[in-house]
Amino acid sequence: MTLARSRDDLAAALAVDDRTGAPRAVAMTMGALHQGHFDLVTEAARLVGPGGTVVVTIFVNPLQFAAGEDLEAYPRTLEADVEGLVSILRAPDGEDALIVGRLIVFAPTPEVMYPDGDPAVRVDPGPIATVLEGATRPTHFAGVLQVVLTLMHLTRPRWALFGRKDAQQLAIVRAMVRDLAVPVEIVPVEIRREADGLAMSSRNAYLTAQEREQALALSRALAAGREAARAGADAAGVRTAALEVLEKAPGVEVDYAAVVDPDSFVDLSGAGLGLPGGSVQPAGAVELAGPSQPVGPVLLALAAKVGTTRLIDNALITCGGPVA
Ligand code: PAF
Repeated sequence: MTLARSRDDLAAALAVDDRTGAPRAVAMTMGALHQGHFDLVTEAARLVGPGGTVVVTIFVNPLQFAAGEDLEAYPRTLEADVEGLVSILRAPDGEDALIVGRLIVFAPTPEVMYPDGDPAVRVDPGPIATVLEGATRPTHFAGVLQVVLTLMHLTRPRWALFGRKDAQQLAIVRAMVRDLAVPVEIVPVEIRREADGLAMSSRNAYLTAQEREQALALSRALAAGREAARAGADAAGVRTAALEVLEKAPGVEVDYAAVVDPDSFVDLSGAGLGLPGGSVQPAGAVELAGPSQPVGPVLLALAAKVGTTRLIDNALITCGGPVA
C-alpha cells in the first residue's frame, strides 16, 4: 500500500504504471469508509485484475459544503480507512499480499488539492444540478465536479467508480465526462444496505438509536414505490405511494420524493421537482424538458431529514403503467 499525501507522491506512484502499462481504476471518497465504499474498491479490483492498480482518494472536499453544513464535523478516520482498504484487498493466502498489483491511497490536504486557494476556473454542472439535491444545496454539485475532474486529471484512471446511492451525482459526473470528453469510463456500483434496509452512508453515524429506526422510513418508501409499480402504477402513482409512507413516518421531515429519468433527471411524475406534493419550482430551478413516456427504469429519489441529519435514498424502478 502506498499512502500519497502530496501530488508529487501520487505522481511518483503512478509513474510505475506508466512504465508497466498496468490498468488503473479510481474510487473517490471523502473517507469514513464503510461497506458501500469497499464495494467500489472491490469492483475496482475486479476491473483492474491481479496486476492492476486501485487508487482510492480520501478527501473531505470543502468546495462541496455550503456554509452551515457539516464540513468541520464530517468524520475523518484516515488510519482506520487505510486499514480497512488493506484488509478488503488482502489476498486470502498472503499476510501482506493484495489481490491487485498495487493499492494507492491519495489523501491530500485542502492545500495540496487546491494549491492556489479557491480555484479561479470552475466546472459548471449544468441544469441537472438545479433540481432535487441542487435545489437544497445550490453550490454542491459544482464543488463535486471541481474535485472529481481535478482528481481524474491527477489519477488518470481508465475506470472511475461511483455509487448509485448518490444518483444525481452519478448522472452529473456522467454528463461531465460526456460533455467534456474526459477519457475515463464511469462505472456505477449498487447501493449497499444494512440488513434492515437502511442505505449505508457516512452520515448515518450522526443518527441516534431512535432516529436510526425512524430513518428506515426511506427504504420502506422505496419498497412502497416498487410495489405500486408492480401493481401497474405509473410514475405519478409510484411517487404518491412512496410519499405517503414518508409523510406518515414519525420523526421524518420530507424534503422531496421524485420520479425522474435516471440520466437527464427530467421529472416523470408531473409533480414538479423538489417539492413534495407540489408543482411549484424551487427558486432558480430549471424544469427540464423531456419525454412523457419513460424508456427503461425510472429513478425514485427521496430526501428527508431525520433529526438534524439529511438522508437520501433511491431505487431504479420499472413502471407498470403509462405515464400521464
Ligand atoms: O461521493 C462522494 O463521497 C463525494 O461527493 C466525492 C465524489 C468523493 C467528491 O468529493
